[in-house]
Amino acid sequence: MEIFRIDPLDEAALSANHAAMSAGLAFGRVDPPIWSLDEVRVNLTHEGSSYQRELYSAVVDGEVVGGAQIEMPMRDNLNLAQVEVAVRPSSRRQGVGTALLEAVAARTASLGRTSLLGIVNQPVSDEPAAGVTFAARHGFTWRNTEIRRSLPLPVPPAHLAELEAKAAARAGEYRLVSWAGACPEEWVEQFAYLKSMLMTDAPTGEMDYEQEIWDAERVRADEAKTEAQGRKWVTTVAVAPDGTLAGNTQIGVPGHESRTFQWDTLVLEVHRGHRLGLALKVANLRRLAEVAPGATSVETWNAEQNGPMVAVNEEIGFRVVEGLQEWQRG
Ligand SMILES: CC(C)(COP(=O)(O)OP(=O)(O)OC[C@H]1O[C@@H](n2cnc3c(N)ncnc32)[C@H](O)[C@@H]1OP(=O)(O)O)[C@@H](O)C(=O)NCCC(=O)NCCS
Repeated sequence: MEIFRIDPLDEAALSANHAAMSAGLAFGRVDPPIWSLDEVRVNLTHEGSSYQRELYSAVVDGEVVGGAQIEMPMRDNLNLAQVEVAVRPSSRRQGVGTALLEAVAARTASLGRTSLLGIVNQPVSDEPAAGVTFAARHGFTWRNTEIRRSLPLPVPPAHLAELEAKAAARAGEYRLVSWAGACPEEWVEQFAYLKSMLMTDAPTGEMDYEQEIWDAERVRADEAKTEAQGRKWVTTVAVAPDGTLAGNTQIGVPGHESRTFQWDTLVLEVHRGHRLGLALKVANLRRLAEVAPGATSVETWNAEQNGPMVAVNEEIGFRVVEGLQEWQRG
């Protein structure tokens, strides 16, 4: 077996890697969301990213049997590397995953990263996914579980109106502002602050992850990358009576499929208890219906212990699809 790093501009190598990793990541799951080749390419090559990303392929007898991606934050969490290892179903239990993991662990250690984070998708089943046993075998420990839920679109108008009225009864003092695409300049500094709070304000179990550092420049770079990936996105913010941003929610609309994806939702702690979570989401769904009328679902992931957010999602109509476990080593 040979393991080599992919030049993301080498189209043949990149697409062979994408085919193998997609097969590995999709296997055994219900309706798995898989990034398109274009999204992956842009993710690896876009200038100004806050992450250093590298991609590797494992080749046996001339065939790409699996791959691994490393993602290292460059602004915060400088001790951390997120790793994704995926092996074609037909090439499993032959040591390919182990060889890939060892290669990327050696690489990240040489770059000073002492902690590895891995994600395992767990179908609704009593049987642990291959990745669970694999991660445990390699010294990772379970830190957090998120549950993916899906909301079929369109939401019946009467249900949306009912939810809107319910939210308005308590969120009345807050103003909701929605936009498609880039954040208006007047909000960008505060929007960056909300972004910086998300990973540490939302529950993440035992995961060792420090607060992210965001500024307007990082927001703009992220938007430019998202656009280059062919994605549209829709955002709603809540503006407090004093004119500051109290919370936000975002849905990403890929260019290559009709499902859409819930990104961040956050209400700052001092503004909780006003049903802003529900108010934000309902307003954003209304805007989404204008921007992407053909959208068929919204997919969302929440920590299983995030009671308030899960309750809002269940009320809107989201239903469980699968689990996503976060495992960490070091
Ligand atoms: C997890 C994954 C990468 C493993 O790839 P692989 O090439 O089969 O892994 P290896 O052959 O190196 O397995 C190493 C050990 O992991 C454990 N393991 C792997 N798959 C397992 C399974 N299906 N059931 C039980 N144990 C398993 C075993 O202990 C195995 O050693 P053994 O075969 O000597 O018993 C592969 O199943 C996959 O692509 N899964 C989907 C993506 C994913 O979950 N990635 C991991 C998180 S980053």
